[in-house]
Amino acid sequence: MSLFRNVLCQARQRRFLHDCPINAIQPLRLLLLGSPGSGKGTQSERLQKHFGVLHVSSGDLLRQNIQEKTPIGKQAASYMTKGQLVPDPILISLIDQELNQVATPHWLLDGFPRTLPQAKALDDTLTRMMQPLNIVINLEVPEQVILERIMDRWVHIPSGRVYNLSYNPPQVAGRDDETGEPLSRRPDDCPEVFRVRMQQYKQMVTPLLDYYRDIAITIKGNTSDEIYPKIEREIVNRLGLLPGTGTPMPTVDLSAFSAAAVAKTNASRQRAAMASVEEERIADSSFR
Ligand code: AP5
Ligand code: MG
Repeated sequence: MSLFRNVLCQARQRRFLHDCPINAIQPLRLLLLGSPGSGKGTQSERLQKHFGVLHVSSGDLLRQNIQEKTPIGKQAASYMTKGQLVPDPILISLIDQELNQVATPHWLLDGFPRTLPQAKALDDTLTRMMQPLNIVINLEVPEQVILERIMDRWVHIPSGRVYNLSYNPPQVAGRDDETGEPLSRRPDDCPEVFRVRMQQYKQMVTPLLDYYRDIAITIKGNTSDEIYPKIEREIVNRLGLLPGTGTPMPTVDLSAFSAAAVAKTNASRQRAAMASVEEERIADSSFR
C-alpha cells in the first residue's frame, strides 16, 4: 500500500471510530444466519479469536453426536445425510442443554434457530436466563461462489474447525492444525444433498429475518475477508465491544463521576484503544 493510501485509510478509520455511538457496552449475544457454505463457521472462528466469544453450532453438535453414536446422533443422521432439517424437539432440547452450561457472557449461535418454533423456544430459554439475543447477522454470499468452495471443504469434527483446500488449507494435508487428527468430508456436501439444503434455507430465511427484524442486519459479500470487517463494525457500533480483548471494557468507579462523565471517559478509552487496534491492522495489511 502506498504511503498516501495508507494515510487516507487511517484518516477514514479514525473518522469511523469518532462517529461510533458508544452508549452502553453489552455482552455479545449473536445469532449468525446464512445459507449453507456462506461462511458461518469461518466467521465464527474469527469472532471467537477476536472477541473471545463461545461458538455454539447446531451442525457441529449434531456431527459430534453422530460420531459418538449417541441416541441423538442416531436420530439426526438419517435427516442430515439427506439434507433435511432434524425435527424441532431434538434441536430445541440439544441447544437448551448447551445454553444451560454456558459460563461466558459472550456467545454466538450458528445454525440454530432455523424454524419459527425453534426461534420461539430459544426466546423462552433466553428470557429465563435473562440473556436475550442482541444482534442477528445474516450472511449473503452469491450461490455460485458457495458451490465452488463447498466441494473443497474439509472439517475437524470434534472441534468444528473448517478448512478449504484453496482458501485456508490445513498445514499438513488431511490433518487438523491444532490436534493433528484426521479431517473428514461432510456426507451432506455432495451436490445433490447440497441442493436440498439450499432449498431448505431459502424457505426458512424470510420468516426468520421477519421474526428478528428489530435486531437483524444482512451483510453481503463474496469472501469471508470482505465480510468479516463489516461484522466487526456492526458489533462495535451496536454493542460497544472492542475487538482483541474478548471482554467488555472495564467501567470506571461510579461514585467518582457523574453518569455523563462515566460515559465520556469510557467512550474516549474505547476510541483510543480501538484506534490503536485499527492502526495495527492497517500497518499489518500494508505489508501484505
Ligand atoms: P450446518 O452444519 O449448520 O450446515 P449449514 O447451515 O448448511 O452451513 P455449513 O456448515 O455448510 O456452512 P457455513 O456457513 O458454516 O460455511 P463454512 O464456514 O463451513 O447444518 C448441517 C445439517 O444439520 C442441516 O442440513 C440439518 O440437517 C442439521 N441442522 C443443523 N441445525 C439445525 C436446526 N437448527 N434445525 C434442524 N436441523 C438442523 O464455509 C464453507 C466453506 O467455504 C469452507 O470450506 C470454508 O473453508 C470455505 N470458505 C469460507 N470462506 C471462504 C472464502 N472467503 N473463500 C473461499 N472459501 C471460503
Ligand atoms: Mg458450518
